[in-house]
Amino acid sequence: MEVSFSYINILLSFAALFLIKLFFFTNNNRKKKKLPPSPPALPFIGHLYLFKNPLHHTLSRISARYGPITFLRFGSRPVVVVNSRAIAEECFTTHDVAFANRVHLPSQKHTTFNYANIGTANYGSHWRNTRRIAAVELLSTHRLLLSSSARTDEVRHMARGLLLNWKKIAGSQGSTFVKVELKSRLFELSLNVMMRIMAGKRYFGEAAEGSEDARQFREVVEEIFARGGATTLSDFLPILGLFQGVNKAMKRLKAVIDDFSQRLVDEHKKENKDSQGERTKKTMIDHLLSLRETEPDSYSDQTIKSICMSLLMAGTDTTSNTVEWAMSLLLNNPHTLTKAAVEIETHVGKERLINESDLSNLPYLHCILKETLRLYPGAPLLVPHESRDDIVLNNYDIPCGTMLLVNAYVIHRDPATWDEPDEFKPERFEEKKEEEKYMIAFGNGRRRCPGEGLAIRDVGIMLGTLLQCFEWRRVGDEAVDLGEGSGLTLPKAISLEAMCKPRENMEKVLMEDLVEVE
Ligand code: HEM
Ligand SMILES: *[C@@H]1O[C@H](CO)[C@@H](O)[C@H](O)[C@H]1NC(C)=O
Repeated sequence: MEVSFSYINILLSFAALFLIKLFFFTNNNRKKKKLPPSPPALPFIGHLYLFKNPLHHTLSRISARYGPITFLRFGSRPVVVVNSRAIAEECFTTHDVAFANRVHLPSQKHTTFNYANIGTANYGSHWRNTRRIAAVELLSTHRLLLSSSARTDEVRHMARGLLLNWKKIAGSQGSTFVKVELKSRLFELSLNVMMRIMAGKRYFGEAAEGSEDARQFREVVEEIFARGGATTLSDFLPILGLFQGVNKAMKRLKAVIDDFSQRLVDEHKKENKDSQGERTKKTMIDHLLSLRETEPDSYSDQTIKSICMSLLMAGTDTTSNTVEWAMSLLLNNPHTLTKAAVEIETHVGKERLINESDLSNLPYLHCILKETLRLYPGAPLLVPHESRDDIVLNNYDIPCGTMLLVNAYVIHRDPATWDEPDEFKPERFEEKKEEEKYMIAFGNGRRRCPGEGLAIRDVGIMLGTLLQCFEWRRVGDEAVDLGEGSGLTLPKAISLEAMCKPRENMEKVLMEDLVEVE
């Protein structure tokens, strides 16, 4: 059941009028705690009546009026919103442990193995163990080097798909640009890359194995991402009974996720042993199963499933959205696109395809990546934290059990830190400057994103390959629309479409590479 905010706002505002009495009652209950400033609240719904999607914009507006730290209620849930770099820093240093829990939203219970996933588990031994396994065994620089060719192969596969599409449409008149829809291609690519390094499988594309599997999987993934985020209203107003519909859908999803991840693990138990019966350790799941042989207790099926789903949910649309934003920004600023393409041509050339080891020789591409994450941080409010203790933050009292939202979006556009903060200027990162420290696109402290290294490689190789192999143009004269969708992550409201055409000699190089692989 999808509930639109504005409709509910109206309903609830009416409901609220009948509850004024309760308002006075709750007001008298306020003790001497010094809470951060807040706008007027309504009974039951608190500040939900102020909401308009995307949430980070609403919170920015409130902060513009009430200051860099504000206190809100989402229904009965206390929330502190931090809109300044200095206070965010305080949260992730002095109060990092105190804020290290996660908010447990009812809508996420069934899709996260009862909140056992890395991104949803509370601070404690289970979270510490699974996070350590992910960071050390799966996402470390060493492990990432081993999976580099699998990622590159997936990206090239996607580029060949674009090429074949171009050939089909452009036919023999070789010089034309052809329109392509990039959002779904990038999302599928991102999923393929994750599934390939995790399970050695590809889920989308002509050569996808088990297409029924893939279809079911895709549905699940889309549903999870569509519902993700702090903006499922029923999470905060269970009292309205709105939750029942969501709950039912979530239980169905739970069964599918369980089944899907169990099958992945089972398949790998059987396969992937070499002639000596030794396990090959190619994919993440193989590696986890091989670790299980010495430490069975730390690597139960349940743990492996939950780690895999954690990475899949956290690493897929964040990555593809970032590439989509980067391409949009480049198309709107053609001189940056040209500069990046020239850099690639200079350092990689036209005789072979770009690979991950080239990325360290492409500083401008890296600046583009940072500037994209500054303007469009993949998770604009990070992932909500929750306080495990009473905290004094910036001289205000924050009660135990308060949800913490750090507005990375606004912090990244603070004119006190950045000049021309709304402009796309990758050059600002060319000389390592003080500002760079203030980027929190991957969060900070104990809960910081463990997938940053993978994300940077993924986005780099995707963007690098697209720019090396094709020329790009906007569909029309107008700029690409940069409207933002809503959710915990930051999708583009309108899917990106662009015109492309293979660059000189790259058609040959792309097709040659195919022969080498197969
Ligand atoms: C551009 C891409 C990405 C961005 C912008 C991003 C951003 C973030 C942010 C902001 C957080 C929350 C930090 C906090 O709570 O303060 C997070 C958490 C997390 N990310 Fe990423 N991420 C990206 C890609 C990835 C990838 C590729 C993976 C792994 C495959 C990953 C795995 C995780 C996990 C497991 C968590 C939860 C950590 C925890 O709660 O302890 N992320 N990410
Ligand atoms: C990338 O390509 C170069 C040049 O062909 C090669 O020397 C290098 O080993 C490759 N790196 C990877 C990770 O494949």
